[in-house]
Amino acid sequence: MQKDQAKQLLRHVSLRQLQIFDAIARLGSFTRASKALYITQPTVSMQIKKLENCVGLPLFEQIGKQTYLTEAGKIIRRHTQHVLDALANMEMEIADMQGLKTGHLRLAVVTTAKYFAPRALGKFCELYPGVDVSLKVTNRERLLQRLEDNADDLYIIGHPPESKDVIFEPYLANPLVVLAPRDHPLAGQSNIQPKQLAQYPFIMREQGSGTRMATEDFFEKQKIELNIRMELGSNEAIKHAIDAGLGLSVLSRHTLSLEGVQGPLSVLDVKGFPLSWQWHIGHNKGKHLSVIAETFLNFIKTESDSIMRN
Ligand code: PGA
Repeated sequence: MQKDQAKQLLRHVSLRQLQIFDAIARLGSFTRASKALYITQPTVSMQIKKLENCVGLPLFEQIGKQTYLTEAGKIIRRHTQHVLDALANMEMEIADMQGLKTGHLRLAVVTTAKYFAPRALGKFCELYPGVDVSLKVTNRERLLQRLEDNADDLYIIGHPPESKDVIFEPYLANPLVVLAPRDHPLAGQSNIQPKQLAQYPFIMREQGSGTRMATEDFFEKQKIELNIRMELGSNEAIKHAIDAGLGLSVLSRHTLSLEGVQGPLSVLDVKGFPLSWQWHIGHNKGKHLSVIAETFLNFIKTESDSIMRN
């Protein structure tokens, strides 16, 4: 970008335009952005037009009903996020000085983490009532896409990506167990051999699920071919299907957190299980964490065990 053009941007671009631009990029539509910011859609369109005039290039393109960032839009988005993060931090540091913790925490977790993440968030919000939180629950594959898009502050996942551009730390055990209905012939038996499971129909999570990855990994290493009867995209649906006698499945023990051992499902004592995975929490390496995100990160690393025990 030419020096003169940079000056032109500084002189004419407003923070409000950047905020509107960021909301459209994040929410994928002008309408959703106008609702999120409580302004009319013509205002949104007008501000974006002005921003595009300053930049000298279109920032969005409309294909069907979807709004996509152009190449110029992607560049503006990357830098806009730094500006908005810096402003949010400025606000929070000042609030901290005044003894308050206010602001927004954006957390994205894999579906299986929804069984404990809300509990941790509940405790955190008790400590910091001024913080508002958005929690996105999605499967591993989609969460990795959000991480790449830098859509949230922090991410909770079972198996972090191997990329050098991210920082993830283990912070809580995630035991994966084999579940069966209570009246299943294997329920109550001890030291079941993994190959015995191949005699029964099996229910698998959808492609892209971390639980599925771990399950496939285990049985492939054991050279056992499972008799997969169905694939379901939700832990809850799988629990109902097991209860209905449609098959066995491997899920995180955390999926039983509400019903505990009183529920209709039984955890089988299979050799090699529970698979001991860990929950990881992290973010992109280049991400400048807000004070709130930093505070939540420390909170979850130190408090998760006790939150899960209570
Ligand atoms: P899932 O993820 O909910 O996509 O199965 C769990 C995990 O990442 O281990």
